[in-house]
Amino acid sequence: MQVRIAPSPALNGAIRLPGDKSISHRYAILAALANGTTRLKNFSSGADPHSTLGCVAAMGLEVEKKEGEILVHGKGLRGLRAPAGALDAGNSGSTIRMLSGVLAAQPFSSTVFGDESLTKRPMKRIMTPLERMGARIEAVDGTYPPITIHGTRDLQAIHYELPVASAQVKSCVLFAGLSIDGETSVTEPHKTRDHSEVALREFGADIRVDGLTATIRGGRDLEPCELYVPGDLSGAAFFLVAALMSGEANVSLFDVGFNPSRTALIDFLVGGGGQVKILDVRSTGGELVGDLQVTTSRFAGGVIEGGMTAALIDEIPVLAVLGATSENGLTVRDAAELRVKETDRIATVAENMRRMGIEIDTAADGFHIPGKQRFRAAAVDSFGDHRIGMAFAVAGLVAEGGETVVNEAEAASVSFPEFFATLDAIRQ
Ligand code: S3P
Repeated sequence: MQVRIAPSPALNGAIRLPGDKSISHRYAILAALANGTTRLKNFSSGADPHSTLGCVAAMGLEVEKKEGEILVHGKGLRGLRAPAGALDAGNSGSTIRMLSGVLAAQPFSSTVFGDESLTKRPMKRIMTPLERMGARIEAVDGTYPPITIHGTRDLQAIHYELPVASAQVKSCVLFAGLSIDGETSVTEPHKTRDHSEVALREFGADIRVDGLTATIRGGRDLEPCELYVPGDLSGAAFFLVAALMSGEANVSLFDVGFNPSRTALIDFLVGGGGQVKILDVRSTGGELVGDLQVTTSRFAGGVIEGGMTAALIDEIPVLAVLGATSENGLTVRDAAELRVKETDRIATVAENMRRMGIEIDTAADGFHIPGKQRFRAAAVDSFGDHRIGMAFAVAGLVAEGGETVVNEAEAASVSFPEFFATLDAIRQ
């Protein structure tokens, strides 16, 4: 699907985001392991969390998709059944990596596969700790999907030091630890999103966090919950950047997730001079939710490196777009992980930037974009990557010389199927 983006002089209006993708995955997985029915409101409309739901349904659980809520009828830590066929994770790295922790603890073998992009994503990072715990895992070339997990009820508790900051790997190990009597712990090099720790607590697991180490004592039954999924802050990022760059913008965003392990985005934007006001913050299910108002601003640009890179990893494509028009440009370092996302995001950002006449220098683990540049309308591509397609649609809003065409725009549906309709609703 091609979407044409005409430049827009102004953006105005109020937006609601789909439920957070990261939180939706965790709720789907923990609901499947709880004893009874969990009700999930504002569950992500994105394809990825629905891949997770599809996988748990394939293991014998009833998942009811109703208007405005999803019911997962969990059967407890030992309630999953061997699937009849391979489990389909679609485009979703979160599904395959986090669910693997659960599959490692089952008394059956299961195979997980996905689309072409997923087939290129490394799984060694979850295989290493799960094999140390006692599961046996096969993968293509020792790391790529499809993977076959030979699970066991006899997993051993471990302490695992994550070599690379990854919330997915941390969650995988903690979820494997759910059914082990001893204490399983994970230490990360930088703080990553802690939705798993928060959700585990909500579902009644015995979990504690001390600095960069999370420890779970397994064997305790999970209680079903009623939960509201906050709006996706990573989805909000496209509209925050679009409004900051716009000639004249006043956009409000309601019910956005404000988990402190995700709000580095707000800090970065405000730190560079972005007029982003936080109107109200409340708490639901252990997560913070708030409303935002954003207006046109001059943005200074900046440097993203070290722990900041891990905290902003999903927002870097759209921040690159903002960086090109900023005063001083944007430098991103320590971001080799970008090369193994849904696409090699250093390469796909650079390719689209160049098509739109923007200068960018790339390195193995980052890039530099000088500031004060102007986007020229062009044909860009999502390359099948939702965040790349949405980021360059935002660039199209301020491009000179006509309409920008986003090829393979349907990729947005992985996290934000309503993205283009939402954009249309606020453009003037
Ligand atoms: C996610 C963690 C991040 C992020 C991904 C979602 C999660 O990946 O890029 O979109 O929900 O835990 P890594 O854990 O691989 O860094």
